[in-house]
Amino acid sequence: MSLQDCNLIDLPRINDRRGNLTFVEAGRHIPFAIRRVYYLYDVPGGSERGGHAHKALHQLIIAMSGSFDIHLDDGHSRKTVHMNRSYYGLSVCPMIWRAIDNFSSGAVCMVLASDYYDELDYYRDYNEFVGAAQKAAK
Ligand code: TYD
Repeated sequence: MSLQDCNLIDLPRINDRRGNLTFVEAGRHIPFAIRRVYYLYDVPGGSERGGHAHKALHQLIIAMSGSFDIHLDDGHSRKTVHMNRSYYGLSVCPMIWRAIDNFSSGAVCMVLASDYYDELDYYRDYNEFVGAAQKAAK
């Protein structure tokens, strides 16, 4: 998997004077069934989260509130996506190193994930990740 597979998905928006509504349907807007939802909140200014890659997990990351930057790296190239709208979801496929920083105050980062939490699915060492990613690309 490469950075080209990490797309910003424009989720449906039902605009309403009473407040807007967005929804995500597994298999329609995202290419996986959702097994887990988690969220980062109360993030102190200057903090960085992430700093790992997953071997098989697919994720969709949404800025439910506020904003933050997501830095993606497939072992060859890098890109940064600024998240600041709750109707955009960033699809992050397996074998992508990600770090999240520049959280605004009150930011909430929600992640929809294709599987349960499993520490064995993580690369937490960047050099180990790059070695595996480059081997897989050959
Ligand atoms: P981690 O994924 O390392 O978050 P970050 O990379 O942003 O720091 O998770 C931090 C801790 O939370 C780690 O000890 C594992 C635990 N955790 C769970 O128990 N379940 C989960 O679904 C997640 C995402 C993390």
